[in-house]
Amino acid sequence: MFTEQWAKTRFPADVSAIPAEFQPPSALHQRVTLINGELVPFEGDYQPVLSPVCMPDAEGQYRQVILGSYPIGTEAEAFLALDAAVNAYQDGRGAWPVMPVAQRITHVEDFTFRMLARKKEVVNLLMWEIGKSAADSEREFDRTVEYIYATIDALKELDNKSSRFIAAQGILGQVRRAPLGVVLCMGPFNYPLNETFTTLIPALIMGNTVLFKPPKYGTLLFHPLLEAFRDAFPPGVVNTVYGRGATVVPSLMETGKIDALALIGSSRVASELKKKHPKVNRLRAVLSLDAKNAAIVLPDADLDIAVQECLSGSLSFNGQRCTAIKIIFVHADIAAAFTAKFTEAVNLLKIGMPWEKGVNITPLPVQDKPAYLTGLIEDAVARGAQVLNQAAGGGQGFETLVAPAVVYPVNTSMRLYHEEQFGPVVPIVSFTDFEDPIQYQIQAPHGMQISIFGTDPDQIASLIDPLVNLVCRVNINCQCQRGPDIFPFTGRKDSAEGTLSVDTALRAFSIRTMVAAKLTEANKELLNKILHGNKSGFLNTHYIF
Ligand code: G3H
Repeated sequence: MFTEQWAKTRFPADVSAIPAEFQPPSALHQRVTLINGELVPFEGDYQPVLSPVCMPDAEGQYRQVILGSYPIGTEAEAFLALDAAVNAYQDGRGAWPVMPVAQRITHVEDFTFRMLARKKEVVNLLMWEIGKSAADSEREFDRTVEYIYATIDALKELDNKSSRFIAAQGILGQVRRAPLGVVLCMGPFNYPLNETFTTLIPALIMGNTVLFKPPKYGTLLFHPLLEAFRDAFPPGVVNTVYGRGATVVPSLMETGKIDALALIGSSRVASELKKKHPKVNRLRAVLSLDAKNAAIVLPDADLDIAVQECLSGSLSFNGQRCTAIKIIFVHADIAAAFTAKFTEAVNLLKIGMPWEKGVNITPLPVQDKPAYLTGLIEDAVARGAQVLNQAAGGGQGFETLVAPAVVYPVNTSMRLYHEEQFGPVVPIVSFTDFEDPIQYQIQAPHGMQISIFGTDPDQIASLIDPLVNLVCRVNINCQCQRGPDIFPFTGRKDSAEGTLSVDTALRAFSIRTMVAAKLTEANKELLNKILHGNKSGFLNTHYIF
């Protein structure tokens, strides 16, 4: 059972209790920012980086382990980074945007090679900074590298398809995708490496220049990669921005020099930032935002599958996934059996430190999250719900560690029905009217994904048809998820703007542009001279192998 005393035994008593391969970084104080191809020393205030992992101090008080610090950049450095990106883009005439695609690919490959050399440090920092299990931290790194290679392949295919000319109504044209300009990339804390890179890499490889601001939690893990960015790309192509998001980012937007905003975070922040841009029609926004994905468990669902998928859907990485199942609608006929089996499975989850083998529930990085989750549970209980696994300590917390809670029966009067908890609390709603889960989705401000569990083809089909027009992915008998990364990752309403996938991200960070000429003999000859003389980076028929 989760008690304070027991929770204390989960945290390491001191560093000697941590296996050698997972030791925390020894005071990593980042004192530089990457601007215009240089690691520029930063003189100013620094943000201490606290791990969600706690250890007792000399007085026995549990304190979050201090990992190091990073610059609290100000507008001054942010503007220097912006100027560097603007100059490197040089109105589309910079070395990077005009560079042939094959060469840009070589730079990205070089970066990936350098990144792989720093894998161990990055994975360890990822684990320590956000409390993601060692296995999942490594998976995040590997998935990111795979994403980069898949992006390279997708770009080759895209570029090769664009290498032909199209003739129509007496006009000859070659259509290619060209960069947008300066892209500001901001990723979330829960997938700090992967989700930052799923926008940063496509933005870069398409010829944009980039400013990237690491998330508030998950900043130091980029430190080992700064040299790789510096050495693999021409100056000014990749620049970093640090500091308080609420101050530096709006100022960057107000300059009107950001051409594309790539943000994976909250819809409130995204909408405030977009409004800061003085020429909002010039801004391309690629956003992945709020979501509270539901699961619908039908009366004839295979209970084992439904429980297993809802369990990992709702509680993988402590429920801190944008795609997590954040509310479960269970038909009343199966509610007792489902809640019993689900609660039993939740109680078997291993609570511990991220380096432990097979660990499921780990400490939470976001400062006020445990108190916020307690507030949600108390509100639900005050309105008639129960914590089904209370006897096992469900919902109890000590410092950053929170035992997962199963809350039932949840209804529309409760905050847990509406708010995106982004943590280890699972609200379950019982329903008899099939309209209830559909109404939930209609009323919800977001519309990313949904999962349906059942075996009756008529019933499932009758839910698929309304739901595909309310969300962007209906999962049958499996949890909600982003992957495989070739699938479109998007959402309706406040869940997303634009689509991300290996292939579509390349389109998101580029625009179709073409060269056209009347199909006359003189023009044919002219175009042939340009092509055969290899005179243009854009107008060519090269094939990239
Ligand atoms: O946090 C949102 C992630 O994109 C989710 O990805 O479904 O693969 O965990 P995932």
